Amino acid sequence: MLRLAVAAIALAVTVLGHQLQPRDAISNDPYPFCSPATNPNCIVGGKYLVPSLDFSLQNDADHWKATDFTIYNVTFTDCPGSPFVVCRHKTAPKSIGQISTEIGRIPVKMRQATSMFLVYGDLNSDNPQYGGYIATLAGDGIIVGRSGAYSTTSLVHEMGHAVDSTLASPGGGKAYSSTAAWQKAVTADGYAVSAYGAGSLVEDFAETGRAVLLDNIFPGGLAAWSNHNPNLTQITQQLKAFKAVAGGFYTTGGTCDLAKKFPFPTSLVKKA
Ligand SMILES: *[C@@H]1O[C@H](CO)[C@@H](O)[C@H](O)[C@H]1NC(C)=O
Ligand SMILES: *[C@@H]1O[C@H](CO)[C@@H](O)[C@H](O)[C@H]1NC(C)=O
Repeated sequence: MLRLAVAAIALAVTVLGHQLQPRDAISNDPYPFCSPATNPNCIVGGKYLVPSLDFSLQNDADHWKATDFTIYNVTFTDCPGSPFVVCRHKTAPKSIGQISTEIGRIPVKMRQATSMFLVYGDLNSDNPQYGGYIATLAGDGIIVGRSGAYSTTSLVHEMGHAVDSTLASPGGGKAYSSTAAWQKAVTADGYAVSAYGAGSLVEDFAETGRAVLLDNIFPGGLAAWSNHNPNLTQITQQLKAFKAVAGGFYTTGGTCDLAKKFPFPTSLVKKA
């Protein structure tokens, strides 16, 4: 399922950016044989994405070319031995190092809900058929988006979708945000966590994740963060329900749990 997200809480960008320590990517290994971004012939005998990006993971009108991407294994020090895959389009302004740094800022216990990142260029002219910003194929642990969308606050939101469909899922492929329990919490509160969250139960879950992360890591929690906004009581049940199923993943530090880590996408990334 495709989930679009464009909202960013501007203030949260700064605070989350300061609160979350960048993690060093211990290796950014390009796949062997070639760099598809610089050598259009390298597919022969090399590695490539299956299914082809020409048909896009989002819809079949995007027309990305697989040969314009370089695929990397990115291994973080807090998740040794279990690389994430980053596919960087040649037009992406951010380098693989910058992209990895942004991804690595997200707490590993949330990050472990993902497996793969597709990073596109920022300009419409890079691919006039792609009108998106950033999205999550939540059940697949895949995030796809423009280079510029790879920032802390947006990744916290997107990884929230992945957590929703995997770590917080009450079982096999069903997102927690689609359960009666979540609907009950939202209804009981009567207010979404943000204007963007008000769009749907799914988006509200991802937005609640941002609030839960702040509550867990900001000194004094959400109360201090919001300057003791009395209206925080309007989201009490959502915070409680979210924390019950996923709060433990919205904390910094530690290492990934290999039993919970979304598997390496071998069905999508393999040798020709
Ligand atoms: C990338 O990681 C996968 C999964 O650990 C591994 O099988 C593969 O050999 C790695 N490829 C490179 C080029 O390091
Ligand atoms: C609290 O929420 C109500 C209802 O949305 C709103 O009218 C009021 O201005 C809010 N209070 C503050 C302090 O923002």
